[in-house]
Amino acid sequence: MVGVLLGGGTGSRLYPVTFAVNKHFIPIYNKPMVYYSFSILMLAGIREVVIVCSPGDLDGYRKLFGDGSKLGMKVEYAVQEEPKGLADGLLKAEEFARGEPVCLVLGDNVFYGHELQELLREARKKVETEGGAVIFAYHVKDPEMFGVVEFDEEGNVVSIEEKPKNPKSSYAVTGLYFYDNTCFEKAKRVKPSDRGELEITSVNEEYLKEGSLKVKPLRRGFAWFDAGTHDSFLKAGEFIATIEKRTGYMIGCIEEIAYRNGWIDREQLIKLAEPLRKTDYGRYLLTIAEEEGAF
Ligand code: DAU
Repeated sequence: MVGVLLGGGTGSRLYPVTFAVNKHFIPIYNKPMVYYSFSILMLAGIREVVIVCSPGDLDGYRKLFGDGSKLGMKVEYAVQEEPKGLADGLLKAEEFARGEPVCLVLGDNVFYGHELQELLREARKKVETEGGAVIFAYHVKDPEMFGVVEFDEEGNVVSIEEKPKNPKSSYAVTGLYFYDNTCFEKAKRVKPSDRGELEITSVNEEYLKEGSLKVKPLRRGFAWFDAGTHDSFLKAGEFIATIEKRTGYMIGCIEEIAYRNGWIDREQLIKLAEPLRKTDYGRYLLTIAEEEGAF
């Protein structure tokens, strides 16, 4: 399975902050926003990732992730000339997927929760062995701001709509999608929506018509943020800070995950930590390297 991270868009809801800086590079507490979505792919055990971004942001992403080898991964980049929508972004990754299933994650989403790793690996396995699509739903107070999914007790989807005026449920579709390789054919058939975008919800609708769309609700104990506005950004930052200070563990720390996944050794972890020695982040990595039985 190949990971596809959408890191393009204009970030217009965060102006003037994003006039000069791509929103995915600004911090949620102590790390660039994109670390959180990138780490979701890593937790799903995905070692090959393609980052889709606008031409002007390639250099920034390369500074953060390079070719991925420092994390024992392979990271490639695909350019989306204009932000024409999430399904358009997905299509830019087609050649990199080389016929494999994909895990698509939106660069502005943050997930945290008990047994998240198991949930991700289960969804991955389902799509790899049975095909189809798995998406995740989260109970929200303002469903009209998101893709909205209605489903029965077995997780069978009844309806899915993009930002409906009259939502049929209170469950938002989160920005994490496990797809078999037919997602690309489906994305090619998508027509622009009323707001002029190629919507990912239209791809999900195709899976629904085929009877192969499953939804997993993220229940109590899970936290999900779409950090697309100033308020959600702030809330996500406060949440991360609280959890990290309380537990002593970092969320979305890509070097730590690479180490615990066994993709890099202790020596490489220390090498990555050294230039950050004067920061809490660097000191944290060094503590992890000193832990016995970190795996
Ligand atoms: O966060 C979950 C929601 O994300 C879902 O509930 C919706 O169904 C889905 O359409 C999406 O809605 P948003 O309005 O929040 O999407 P947004 O335009 O903010 O873009 C999400 C991410 O994708 C963001 O990190 C920027 C990136 N992006 C966006 C567009 C439109 C791209 O890389 N390329 C694009 O063309």
